[in-house]
Amino acid sequence: MSRKIIVLDTTLRDGEQVPGAKLNVYQKVEIAKQLKRLNVDIIEAGFPASSAGDFHAVQEIVRSVGDSVTITALARAVKNDIDSVYESIKLASNPLIHIVLGTSNIHVEKKFNRSKDAIMQMGVDAVKYAKTLLPNVQYSTEDASRSDFEYLWSTIEAVVRAGATMINVPDTVGFAVPEEFGELIRKLNDRLKNLDDSVVLSVHCHNDLGLATANTLSAIKNGADKIECTINGLGERAGNASLEEVVMGLKVRELHYGCHTDIRTKELLKTSRLVSHLTGLDVQVNKAITGENAFAHSSGIHQDGLLKDKNVYEIMSPQDVGAESMEMILTARSGRHAFKNAVEKMGFEPGDAEQFESLFQKFLTLADAKKEVYDHDVFYLVTSNSRAEG
Ligand code: KIV
Ligand code: ZN
Repeated sequence: MSRKIIVLDTTLRDGEQVPGAKLNVYQKVEIAKQLKRLNVDIIEAGFPASSAGDFHAVQEIVRSVGDSVTITALARAVKNDIDSVYESIKLASNPLIHIVLGTSNIHVEKKFNRSKDAIMQMGVDAVKYAKTLLPNVQYSTEDASRSDFEYLWSTIEAVVRAGATMINVPDTVGFAVPEEFGELIRKLNDRLKNLDDSVVLSVHCHNDLGLATANTLSAIKNGADKIECTINGLGERAGNASLEEVVMGLKVRELHYGCHTDIRTKELLKTSRLVSHLTGLDVQVNKAITGENAFAHSSGIHQDGLLKDKNVYEIMSPQDVGAESMEMILTARSGRHAFKNAVEKMGFEPGDAEQFESLFQKFLTLADAKKEVYDHDVFYLVTSNSRAEG
């Protein structure tokens, strides 16, 4: 039986930390509604202690989708932040408090200038306080991938004993590499299962080395039950693991991972475009899954293969992510097969071998001049050719 992976989307919290990506409350609600259509399990709606505007936005998201999606929001391990989260999400049908506190030496010593014991106690006290408000509490061990393993584990053990129901392991600065991160998750998972197997093990990967998707998949392979990601991979610095990439990785390679999500993948493209439109941040054209070229084929060898059988060059169908169909870009590298297909798709007869060859040569001349040949160019080529011949 395929294992279900819980998907938390943090586009509205970590994603919104991207410079220039400020969203107003209406835009946030619109994105939250689309995330509900996408069927994410949990929406991280914001960081309510950061401003009155963020607090209000979290409340509005709860009002609009909080009856059917788990809503969480972020708190530092201090009472005021936890109170803000509680007040902003308490009307959701399944609210979750998310507490974050660092575990790496650099966080403990440089950021807090406190002892390791004192920081661990701060985390325990925060979880105990949050548990007086709500039953579901996630604890994030910030900078986990650069933490001393035994201290990381002691912290996890202590906060689980204090009542944390989810442990989130962040690769906060995108420092981890897949084998190492997978191994970290495997070791934590083994110990956590012995301690309390009802606790959910989660990961949150950043993309500073371009490895966020790979690290997330490696963590899943090694026992993580929950992933945190964002639409279009938005997020602090180089961003977070991209939801669409991880979800499609699991779908296309379900046999390899033995896992699935409940994401409605046909909503992926629409969600990506909505987030891009509202944040004003373009999706790079060659971005996996949702980039403009993700299902576009331009080389003649590929186009010929695809026309024989789509599986020759396609590992997933464009329709699976909500795109209409694959796109053949006609260029000077497109061969006769692709050009003939384009002519026939427009309802024209390609003619006999000699007529077609003459048309193809004209196409090559045009393609050399224009680089890309569109439907209207094909139309012009065919009609002007037949006028010249007639
Ligand atoms: O990157 C990080 O460590 C975070 C935590 C709040 C989970 O965003
Ligand atoms: Zn983050």
